[in-house]
Amino acid sequence: MQTLDTVPAMQALARDTRAAGQTIALVPTMGALHEGHLDLIRLAATKSDVVVVSIFVNPTQFGPNEDFESYPRDMEGDLAKCREAGAHHAFLPDRSTLFPDDYSTYITEESVAEPLEGVSRPAFFRGVTTVVAKLFNIVQPHIAIFGQKDAQQLAVVRKMVNDLHFPIEIVAGETTRAPDGLALSSRNAYLTPSQREGALGLNRALENIKTMVAQGERRAERLMAETTHLLADDRRLRVIYVAIVDPSTMKKQIEVEPGNSLLAIAVWMDQTRLIDNTLL
Ligand code: PAF
Repeated sequence: MQTLDTVPAMQALARDTRAAGQTIALVPTMGALHEGHLDLIRLAATKSDVVVVSIFVNPTQFGPNEDFESYPRDMEGDLAKCREAGAHHAFLPDRSTLFPDDYSTYITEESVAEPLEGVSRPAFFRGVTTVVAKLFNIVQPHIAIFGQKDAQQLAVVRKMVNDLHFPIEIVAGETTRAPDGLALSSRNAYLTPSQREGALGLNRALENIKTMVAQGERRAERLMAETTHLLADDRRLRVIYVAIVDPSTMKKQIEVEPGNSLLAIAVWMDQTRLIDNTLL
């Protein structure tokens, strides 16, 4: 696996790959790779000739009181994992390459990005869309893979790709869960064993709502109330939002539309912010 850290080197590689008639898949990451990321890399390898993984802890998507400084970083371990999962190239720009001091251009999606994460993390999606658009221009992929775990991010990126006519197919990778059901996330590294145990309440709440929907319950109010009640079983879990929304627009639904509804949850487990979701 080759590593690249400059824009000209990455763009030259993309040009040569395309000229050779090969397809490129991009898996954008912020590193601290876990099995969920590796599943995305493996999925990318089934869909394209060349897999590029980008690793960049993007400062523009962290709010002033968020965990940019403490975000887990493990470049050596990440590169070994990328190699093992079948990546061909790792793009590792540093901060001054993507966001030099005089940087001043941002992309803002103004609808899908507004609710849910957009309310509690106002800077987040502007940072995500900006860095993802830059990565698209640098890596020039045919396909880009995003995890369903970050369902709103996936929807925002899809909207941006559509609105700005990027000739790129966005592919969703299923959420990878630990054997006990907890969705894998780099931020799980912050949890103590006891907090991790408590965080399993998220998955229990998702399973419960799926059962209620399978049994015929459609009223979003009822399902959200039940979910919030279940989450409150652990006093350390503080609900940021529980919402039933259209998975493409993130607009609230009054009734579940089977096959076209998403239950999205965000909670604090003590100081750690966790999100999870399920398609209903
Ligand atoms: O999901 C992530 O890890 C990040 O938001 C992304 C897409 C790599 C952009 O920094």
